[in-house]
Amino acid sequence: MRFDRRTLPSLLLAFCCIAIATPAFAEDTSTTAAPAIIPLPASLEMDAGRFHPGKTLHVAITGKLADRRAIAALANDVLREAWHRPVAAASAKGHADLRLVLAHDASANPESYTLRIARDGIVIRAPSDTGLFYGLQTLRQIATPGSDAKAGIPALHIADQPRFRYRGLMLDSARHMQPIAAIKQQLDLMARYKFNTFHWHLTDDQGWRIEIKRYPKLASVSSMRKETVIGNADDGATARDGIPYGGYYTQAQAREIVSYARARHIDVIPEIDMPGHMVAALAAYPELACTPGPFDVYTTWGVSDDILCPSPQTFAFVEGVLDEVMATFPSHYVHVGGDEAPTTRWKQSALAQDIIRREGLKDEHALQGWFLRRVESFVRAHGRSIIGWDEILEGGASPTATVMSWRGMQGGIDAVRLGHDVVMSPTSHVYLDYCQSKEKSEPPCIGNFLPLHKVYDFEPVPDGLTPEQATHILGGQGNLWTEYVKTTQDVQYMLFPRSFALAEVLWSPRQSRDWNGFLQRLPPQLAELDRLHVNYRRLDPQ
Ligand code: ACM
Repeated sequence: MRFDRRTLPSLLLAFCCIAIATPAFAEDTSTTAAPAIIPLPASLEMDAGRFHPGKTLHVAITGKLADRRAIAALANDVLREAWHRPVAAASAKGHADLRLVLAHDASANPESYTLRIARDGIVIRAPSDTGLFYGLQTLRQIATPGSDAKAGIPALHIADQPRFRYRGLMLDSARHMQPIAAIKQQLDLMARYKFNTFHWHLTDDQGWRIEIKRYPKLASVSSMRKETVIGNADDGATARDGIPYGGYYTQAQAREIVSYARARHIDVIPEIDMPGHMVAALAAYPELACTPGPFDVYTTWGVSDDILCPSPQTFAFVEGVLDEVMATFPSHYVHVGGDEAPTTRWKQSALAQDIIRREGLKDEHALQGWFLRRVESFVRAHGRSIIGWDEILEGGASPTATVMSWRGMQGGIDAVRLGHDVVMSPTSHVYLDYCQSKEKSEPPCIGNFLPLHKVYDFEPVPDGLTPEQATHILGGQGNLWTEYVKTTQDVQYMLFPRSFALAEVLWSPRQSRDWNGFLQRLPPQLAELDRLHVNYRRLDPQ
């Protein structure tokens, strides 16, 4: 809770009321502790009194909602889970325990909402369905599942909106796949903590995971690796398990994820990583490489010298793949990777060197820039935009490309100065495959060290930018690479509670960041994970 100038008078009023009220009223106002909400709302003021739910909970919805049924269903779920009482629709003018009001306001942040809890009812007001959705998520953290109906919930007023418009988590389904049900559960939890972007890493050297009908061998060949390295390859492990591993998501399944996410106000950004991290595709279509192959889907981790050759066949392949990807994923952004593409093969390739000469390019990095600018024009011709890892800057990315800064913050700073939009996603603070302690007992992780408080310390807007430049930092993203994260249990262990810390970084005002306050607000969230049978890392003793 932020004790700002507006909070103070209402607190004084609350204390004053306690002092002069009748005993029953005094009891009614005795609890004014702020509820444990993550991410912390932009403004939260406690009021006097409490709301007590009626025997039947009446919900009224007014305004022109895009999807009234979806919001009504969520409201019903939140209320029913909280108090286990029947929920019924109320008329617009009749008494309502919960009133949801959509009031269009072109000047308001579309993700904003206000939530007022008073003795006579709860009102959530927002300029869009998304705002109502987030207001209900906040209400769920106040009226927690199985709440004490007799005690009710405290009166308060929240006025909330996100600090950043891009609040993302990336999941690598290439190194290890996750069941559709597990991804849906992750989306459910992301929505509760007001994440709005799910970046889905679908292709890599070790497996291609999305069906492309025009290139069927991506499913039959590229999706399977014959075995997997045992232990931590970064520590020198070379033994293989001898067990074939693979699978892929059909386009129908991907659409199912997209619509499940959409219903939770989350965009799904697909990533087709190119020109590097493409060995799985080369195993099926070796003619796309600069050397004859053959290639096997990678069975260990790391970076391969074998990448796409910038040939006409490759562009036909990339465009064919992206056509189907864009038809499956309606997101504004298409992620085209661009990371970790060694120039070794292009240095030795007559075809690549001819293009460098013909186009007057400086070197192979500039050739990668040329390659991705060509891919970008294709994507833009379809009304979409590209996003790529910060290496895309090295070859001269087009200014309309959005840059995801992962090798620290500098790529993002450089990109913003060049006029790009940026998503900050530095290894130092948001690589969720990093270990959460230095103990040997920690489940498999890639190495390095990223404890909870370091995520909480993440600041997406670096010092030294002008206010105008800072507006190009769209937000931030946590990345969960899955070389060593094989099971749903382990995915959850890496995500929680670190993604709660990230949620607060990306949503709450910078000045309200408070590590001790965050720690105090964590236990009810962890109890909820327990109730939902979601795994997470236990907190270290403080
Ligand atoms: C990355 O971690 N290679 C983007």
